[in-house]
Amino acid sequence: MRINVVTIFPETMDAFFAAGMLSVAKKKGRVEFRSVSPREFTSDAHRTVDDAPFGGGPGMVMMAPPIVEAVESLQPAPGSPVILMGPAGKRFEQADAERLAREPELTFVCGRYKGVDERIRDLVVTEEISLGDFVLSGGEVAAAAVIEAIVRLVDGVLGDDESAATDSFAAGRDGLLDCAWYTRPAEYRGRKVPDVLMSGHHAEIEKWRRQSSLERTRRYRPDLIDKKSST
Ligand SMILES: C[S@@+](CC[C@H](N)C(=O)[O-])C[C@H]1O[C@@H](n2cnc3c(N)ncnc32)[C@H](O)[C@@H]1O
Repeated sequence: MRINVVTIFPETMDAFFAAGMLSVAKKKGRVEFRSVSPREFTSDAHRTVDDAPFGGGPGMVMMAPPIVEAVESLQPAPGSPVILMGPAGKRFEQADAERLAREPELTFVCGRYKGVDERIRDLVVTEEISLGDFVLSGGEVAAAAVIEAIVRLVDGVLGDDESAATDSFAAGRDGLLDCAWYTRPAEYRGRKVPDVLMSGHHAEIEKWRRQSSLERTRRYRPDLIDKKSST
C-alpha cells in the first residue's frame, strides 16, 4: 500500500511515520509513505498557500492551485481514494478502516485555517472523513489517526494477526468492544486476575472473554448492542 499526505507540515507526518507500528510496516515493505507540501507548488517568494475569503469574513482559506497540484504531482493510482480530512466528512469508523485497508493507494489532504477552497473538493477529492464532531486546527492529527487505524489492518503488518481480528468493533468481536485483559502480576493491590484466565482451559477462557466483551459493551457502549440487534 502506498500512503500520500498533502500537508503544509510534512515534517509532522514524517516523524509520525518514523515511529512504532508504522515504521515497522515500512521496514517490512508493506507500506510506503510520502508527504508533500502544497508550498512546493507556489510561485511567490513567501510560498503562500492561503488567502482571504471572497466575500470577506474572518480567517484565511487554503487556495486551490497548490493543493490540487500537490495531489496531481503524486500521481495517485487512477480511482484510488483522495481523502479530505474535515469536520463535514463521514465520521470515521472501523468499517472505513477495513474498507480503506484493501486499497492499493490512499491520498490524504490536510486542511488548515478556515479550511480549503471548495473547488479542491470538486477537482481532486473523492471522499471526506471526519474524526468526530469537534474542530481541530489542522487535518494532520486526524489523518495520522486514520492512517494508523488503516495500516494496522494491512496484511502482514501486525506480528500477531489475531490481535486486530479480535479488537473492539472487529468482525471477530461481532462488532462489540474487546474483552478485559490482564497480565502479570496475578494479584495487585488486592485485585486478583479471574481464576479462569489462569486455568489453562481454553474453551472456558473463550466463554469468559465473550461474556466480558458483552458486559463491557453493555456498560460502556450500549448503543453498539442496539445497533447490532437492529441489523
Ligand atoms: C480549523 S479547521 C476548519 C474548520 C471549518 N471552518 C469548519 O468549521 O468546519 C482546519 C482544518 O482542520 C481539519 N479538521 C478540523 N476538524 C477536523 C475533524 N473533526 N476531522 C478531520 N479533520 C478536521 C480539516 O482539514 C480542516 O480543514
